[in-house]
Amino acid sequence: MDETQRNRLKLQAAIYAADRIEAGMVVGLGYGSTALLAVRRIAARLNEGELHGIVGVPCAEVTATLAGELGIPLTRLDDVPAVDLTIDGADEVDPQLNLIKGGGGALLREKMVAQASRQVMIIVDAGKLTPALGTNWAVPVEVVEFGWGATARWITAQGATVQRRTTPDGSPFRTDQCHFILDCRFGPIADPATLGRSLAERAGIVEHGLFVGLTTDLVVAGVDGIRHVRGAN
Ligand code: A5P
Repeated sequence: MDETQRNRLKLQAAIYAADRIEAGMVVGLGYGSTALLAVRRIAARLNEGELHGIVGVPCAEVTATLAGELGIPLTRLDDVPAVDLTIDGADEVDPQLNLIKGGGGALLREKMVAQASRQVMIIVDAGKLTPALGTNWAVPVEVVEFGWGATARWITAQGATVQRRTTPDGSPFRTDQCHFILDCRFGPIADPATLGRSLAERAGIVEHGLFVGLTTDLVVAGVDGIRHVRGAN
């Protein structure tokens, strides 16, 4: 699949998801190229008067800036009792609808918003589907700066090849919380839930990009159209 085709599929998935939003909903706005396409579609629906009374909870500063510029009313996670529907992308999706997320570095806020959501709709092109998480992607792990090298060594001892993420100019990538990201290549992960728990227990690790049991709806855009899969949650 070439880049143009992939972008077309991402747009189809984004439109499908944004069109499921109903008046009055609190909507989690994800981050990444696919989720930002959904943000644009939501704004278009609002501006055309097709949608009323929604409020967005952005998962990243970039999302907040774009959504604000496009005129989507925004609030903070603290200020809503729950999020009705979150629309977000993913880097890899397994057959149980578990995910690797965090390619854009927003995994902590994305997971917090997903955990606070009644419905989590993940939008992907078909190239993101995988038989096992970790087959094609590293697991992004957000770590505090203090002792990050020791944290990286511990993760390496758990069987991963670890690389600290950098920006194009070579400086360390920083999350919205000013932490580092370690991209941890485990290869195919047999038990994402167990790995996720052991990463979460380690001091110095703020959050990891394994999203287990959070997806309620998966929207896959492929060459043969849109597939909407409902999860067991
Ligand atoms: C952002 O931190 C990520 O979780 C993205 O949702 C994920 O990387 C997918 O991004 P794309 O839609 O750009 O592929």
